[in-house]
Amino acid sequence: MCQKCTVPQTGNLMQKRKIIIDTDPGQDDAVAILLALASGEELDVLGITCVAGNVPLRLTSVNALKICELANRRDIKVLAGCDTPLKRHLVTAEHVHGKTGLDGPTLPEPTMQLQPQNAVDFLIDTLRSEPAGSVTLCPLGPLTNIATAIERAPDILPKIAEIVLMGGAYFEVGNITPAAEFNIYVDPEAAKIVFSSGVPITVVPLDVTHKALVTKERNDKFRALGSAVAIAVAEMTDFFERFDKEKYGSEGAPLHDPCVIAYLLEPTLFTGRFINVEIETASELTLGMTVADWWRVTERTPNAMFLGDIDADGFFALLTERLARY
Ligand code: BDR
Ligand code: CA
Repeated sequence: MCQKCTVPQTGNLMQKRKIIIDTDPGQDDAVAILLALASGEELDVLGITCVAGNVPLRLTSVNALKICELANRRDIKVLAGCDTPLKRHLVTAEHVHGKTGLDGPTLPEPTMQLQPQNAVDFLIDTLRSEPAGSVTLCPLGPLTNIATAIERAPDILPKIAEIVLMGGAYFEVGNITPAAEFNIYVDPEAAKIVFSSGVPITVVPLDVTHKALVTKERNDKFRALGSAVAIAVAEMTDFFERFDKEKYGSEGAPLHDPCVIAYLLEPTLFTGRFINVEIETASELTLGMTVADWWRVTERTPNAMFLGDIDADGFFALLTERLARY
């Protein structure tokens, strides 16, 4: 066990960790997928389930296929899921990710096909077919697919080992509104279902990801690897970083979603607190806020390991080493 959390750590397990990546690519989602696919010794990617988020579902699904082809992993199952949040109109983020969601590199149109099954059905069927506590879900976008699967088939809950998700914020507060982080804001009702599910949850919030910045030096290291994958990652970052540089004056792009995969691979790069996290779904002003009891000022029962810090140099060393495998 990690001293700071309640879940078994990959490093101690003999078996590979089975994961499903639920995602809305997104340049940073793309890097997360590439990191996971480069880590076959530790991770068994059962499938990639796509959701509407950064851009509409049609594009997030095509982008996921493009990434699998870029990684030369046509064997990976890619499925399309929910195209709208549970109760709201979709909010997208082309202002960050560009018109396609994956602006930057020029990647060929994929020839690989989506699986015919819906992503939610895939989540349910896969979890039902696996032993209890054996599959880790890695949501990197709005939680619509995961919440729909839980609502439709609550019997899958015991099958989930853990949900490690990118979303929310405490100290950094919000990036899409003054109070909310994008993934949670897009579908707060879905987030509420997930955070109330009783499944062990690890949250990778903006507080962590805003410290995982691709500086010029770090991006030069990716580019210098010279492979098609590494150059595409550098080009994605070149595009993606302009938003954060202009808006926050930061040194480079935050690699939000790869932090989730890095946490699975090397949890000691991160620290956090096991606390209560509730999702605001009523207030217009603070909709989608992750009300994290970081200072433990309430008696509310802890329901999530909320990460707060990252060893950024260690994270980039890991990412660069894994990208070098392509
Ligand atoms: C999250 O929102 C998206 O723009 C990124 O892909 C990431 O998952 C950061 O708030
Ligand atoms: Ca994402």
